[in-house]
Amino acid sequence: MNDFTFCNPTRVYFGHDGIARALDAEMPAMGDTVMIAYGGGSVMRTGTFDAVADRLRAAGKRVVAFGGIMPNPTYAKVQEGAELARREGVDFILALGGGSVVDCCKVVSAQARLDEDLWSLERDRGGSPTDLIPIGALVTVSGTGAEMNNGAVITHEDLQVKGPLWGAQPAFAVLDPDVMMTVPPAQVVSGAFDTLSHCMETYFGVPGEYNLSDSINEAIMRDVIRHLRTVASDPHDYEARSELAWASAMAENSILKIGKVTDFQCHMIEHQLGALTDCNHGQGLAAIHPALYRHLAPANPAKFARFAVEVMGVDPQGRDEQEVALAGVDALAALIAEVGLPTTLTEMGITDEAVLHQVADTSVLTAGCCKRLDPDEILAILHESL
Ligand code: NZQ
Ligand code: ZN
Repeated sequence: MNDFTFCNPTRVYFGHDGIARALDAEMPAMGDTVMIAYGGGSVMRTGTFDAVADRLRAAGKRVVAFGGIMPNPTYAKVQEGAELARREGVDFILALGGGSVVDCCKVVSAQARLDEDLWSLERDRGGSPTDLIPIGALVTVSGTGAEMNNGAVITHEDLQVKGPLWGAQPAFAVLDPDVMMTVPPAQVVSGAFDTLSHCMETYFGVPGEYNLSDSINEAIMRDVIRHLRTVASDPHDYEARSELAWASAMAENSILKIGKVTDFQCHMIEHQLGALTDCNHGQGLAAIHPALYRHLAPANPAKFARFAVEVMGVDPQGRDEQEVALAGVDALAALIAEVGLPTTLTEMGITDEAVLHQVADTSVLTAGCCKRLDPDEILAILHESL
């Protein structure tokens, strides 16, 4: 096991009436002016925005609304939120939405109290913001696990880059599956696959030998696959949805990453695809993973074979390690098709050669990947994903 320091400071309120329980406990520490940030309007239609705003106002808070945060949130939207937070003297930010809203708020929190440009501070000069508006995450759609970490994925439109920025980690997070019941089935499945991808991309990092993090990870992957199958056939199954909601947080709250350098090569490729096509995150991952893993499995056959047997249920009898490893990738591809996720980029309307070349040329190559890819091999992977 590698050395590590671990702390996750986010308090989690899970289950029925989670938002009311959390607000009642957390409101005294929020200050007077609370910004509620949200996406394209689902929280207006479901009544969740009003329920949150009413509870805050009843406790004497002044509410500032910041809406219109889009899937794949842009850096321009971050600047809009930061400007609003500064102008209104916001003391606390409540992110009411999924990964896109939570990510945008993490960074708004930093930019609002920073005089210089956050992107250049972090990405050009390697600095970190120190003054942050505290935030809380009221999760309305699960999958990213963004609620228990301080990383955000933001699209800089001018630079045509979708990349990480670091901001505030939520002081608390609410995961109430009742609030998520209105999420469309396709997004439920996409979010669950995103969780599986986070697990896999952590599992296939280094070290690959037996370690506690990977053993916990296998249990979570088996659970996610089981419940992914359930929600694909019955999207309203509460038990499956609640298990997926907690698995989502577990995959990205750093517990599975303890002692590991993660891979996340599929995410790096998908993020660039998202920057150029605005595609759905979980769907983009589903279209790329099998082709990517057909390239990676021969470089790390023992770990891919273990994944095949322990997670995908492949019978190793009569096959050598390489065959078992590739059978696991085939089983993953079959699962993707079975649950109705896109199996090709073409199904997602992504066929433009110029886009594929740009993705291949600009995707970050990760330290934890078992094979050092180059742009030509990433292009080959994208072509095999078509
Ligand atoms: O915008 P509204 O109208 O709210 O609709 C949203 C959106 O269209 C809808 N939705 C959310 N809650 C709903 C609902 N519809 C009905 N009922 C509800 N209760 O769901 C759609 C998708 O929302 P979004 O937040 O975009 O999805 P997701 O949670 O998958 O977040 C995706 C973003 O997170 C980033 C992705 O790159 C992408 O930008 N990620 C963040 C990570 C992190 N910070 O740790 C890790 C991930 O790997 C990922 O990269
Ligand atoms: Zn993801």
